[in-house]
Amino acid sequence: MRSVLPRVVAETGLMRRVSRHVSVSRRSIVALWAVCVAVLLSSCAPYPENTFAPESNNAADIKNLFLFIILLAAVVYVIVVGLLGYTLWRYRGKPGDPRPAAVHGNTRVEIIWTALPVLILVIISIPTLGLIFSSQAAAPPGSVQVDATGHTWWFEFTYPDLKITTAGELHVPTGRATSMTLTSADVQHGFWSPRLWGKRDMIPNHLSYIWFTPDKAGFVDDGECTQLCGPSHAKMGFQVVVDTPAAFDAWVKNQQQPAVTPATPEAQRGQQLFLQSGCTACHTITGTAAGGTIGPNLTHVASRRMIAADQLPNNAASMQRWIKNPASVKPGEGQFPNTMPPATISDADIASIVAYLQTLK
Ligand code: CUA
Repeated sequence: MRSVLPRVVAETGLMRRVSRHVSVSRRSIVALWAVCVAVLLSSCAPYPENTFAPESNNAADIKNLFLFIILLAAVVYVIVVGLLGYTLWRYRGKPGDPRPAAVHGNTRVEIIWTALPVLILVIISIPTLGLIFSSQAAAPPGSVQVDATGHTWWFEFTYPDLKITTAGELHVPTGRATSMTLTSADVQHGFWSPRLWGKRDMIPNHLSYIWFTPDKAGFVDDGECTQLCGPSHAKMGFQVVVDTPAAFDAWVKNQQQPAVTPATPEAQRGQQLFLQSGCTACHTITGTAAGGTIGPNLTHVASRRMIAADQLPNNAASMQRWIKNPASVKPGEGQFPNTMPPATISDADIASIVAYLQTLK
């Protein structure tokens, strides 16, 4: 056997294969480190969806709870790894040591390692459950009420007391709480603005609640859907604009107005086309015959910063692209019931409709 082995190794190239395997492993370890460092460094870049930069009471509470849990986990980690390291070093084997005796069961140790994690989870659950319940309790008096509804694939915002319906862009004031009632018109969606509130589901035939008080005005947060809801789940965003009380009042006043009457011939032609081309089945423009409620209310569409659920800047070129072929912006659009089909009219007609929509400030 002893004489056969080196020959087998030589003939099969086993050592070569082993050494190649070892060098590949070393390379993969280096690659793994490089990936880890890249991931760590990429988190240094300024990124809008940042739960560590809260701008409301609710987001700050969530950040503090997260830091508390991380701190607790770090303490547990240091104790466990410290004990493990100490045991490995203290009871390390020496050449010639006898085989250690096998140990079966130790009631006291088993009770301790069952009870301690239970205790830790109870400690974590107390502030967690407290925050979940307080964030969906009744908001402070004087709050702005918003009914937010998820649709495939956009968010609708209705202010029942202010008689405003809009989409894709939520305005909230500083100095007051905003109290939101959430539901879904179709499938389950998730509703999250990382710097303003924690994720909460929008569930069909069910109401969820969340309230928050923003800290500073002149601030816009990008929110998004957090529940897989179809092909354009990742393209289902919205913006939250935090206004000063005066700016919020001005926004409310504008949103409460009916749509402006088109002044130029092209916009007038666009309005006629809009009213005749089937757009009215889904969209409302207050002050016109368009009263559909399946798609976003377009009464003040030109006042919004973005269109197509936060996917395109609000300008004529974006609108043209969006109306002509919505699926090029949001996959699945037009292929599902209640999503926008591609326009079947000429580019020139779409351009007129866009010219009209761009007047709806
Ligand atoms: Cu809506 Cu994902």
